Amino acid sequence: MRDKINSIQIQAENDLSDCSTIEDIENLRVKFLGKKGQITLLYQNIKDVAPEDRPQMGQFINDLKQKITSAIVNVKDRIEKNILQKRLEQEAIDVTLPGRSSGFGKIHPLAKTMRSVIKIFQSIGFSVAQGPEVETEYYNFDALNIPSYHPARDMQDTFFLENGKLLRTHTSPVQIRVMENRTPPVRIIAPGRVYRNEAINARSYCLFHQVEGFYVDSSVTFSELKGVLGYFAKELFGEDSKIRIRPSFFPFTEPSLECDVSCFLCSGKGCRVCKKTGWLEILGAGMIHPAVLRSVGYDSSQVQGYAFGMGIERITMLLYGINDIRLFFENDLRFLSQF
Ligand code: PHE
Repeated sequence: MRDKINSIQIQAENDLSDCSTIEDIENLRVKFLGKKGQITLLYQNIKDVAPEDRPQMGQFINDLKQKITSAIVNVKDRIEKNILQKRLEQEAIDVTLPGRSSGFGKIHPLAKTMRSVIKIFQSIGFSVAQGPEVETEYYNFDALNIPSYHPARDMQDTFFLENGKLLRTHTSPVQIRVMENRTPPVRIIAPGRVYRNEAINARSYCLFHQVEGFYVDSSVTFSELKGVLGYFAKELFGEDSKIRIRPSFFPFTEPSLECDVSCFLCSGKGCRVCKKTGWLEILGAGMIHPAVLRSVGYDSSQVQGYAFGMGIERITMLLYGINDIRLFFENDLRFLSQF
């Protein structure tokens, strides 16, 4: 029995030194301390020992069991520490590595054009005003001398809302709102979104942006309007730009005009963008109709004014050679990151 105990002890010491994983340790525990383990068997065999030797044998087995148990705890502890150490090494973070930058956002091309346009007019004394996108028929049409039979009121063009209001079809109602609250001189630039119920294609979209401008004072002349538009064209499209004006019609201006700028791509020689004409149409304008001045309570015999309105999408498309208006609204980063 004594020899048996000794050989189990030696075997256990050898096995322990071979253990390198948690499973090894568990197997070893079962082998020696399990229900059919070697130590358990020793206890069962104690009945074969002479009665007077039994207490001493029992003591030996107890000691051995104690030794193996605490050795198992120690080795297990060592293995777990090793595993943790390895994991820490693998997952170590090098805090000295440079971080990944998240990249800067870009300004939307429409916002870019809008800002440039506003800046140009602010530099010559215009200040910015805004009005609501949900408008009444009065501000969008009536006060602007657009009679109820005018085709612009057609359901085809205007988004009418259930509450009797509508989405403004242009920024011209801001003229009325500003003039109602101010006495001349007023010199205003009004940027904003407008909505039209049109078929969506490469050239037209159900919403777009306009910049409206107007100036009312006691002696505002048509030639001043021409001068301001010429200045604006040079600032936005380049020093060599020229403007050309053509007669047109808007109910709220008289006379009305459309303004073209010389094609900045071919310098007026004629190319694909200007359709061989050398000119690009950029805005509508005119002298504010006396009926509009009267609708806000101005004395149309004492004050005059001019007004103009331009589409920001169209100008942006010309500036950057963009051929589809829908690109502005799709938020595709491949497009947006180019600006
Ligand atoms: N409101 C006009 C449009 O949407 C543009 C315009 C504004 C024309 C001011 C003349 C004067 O087409």
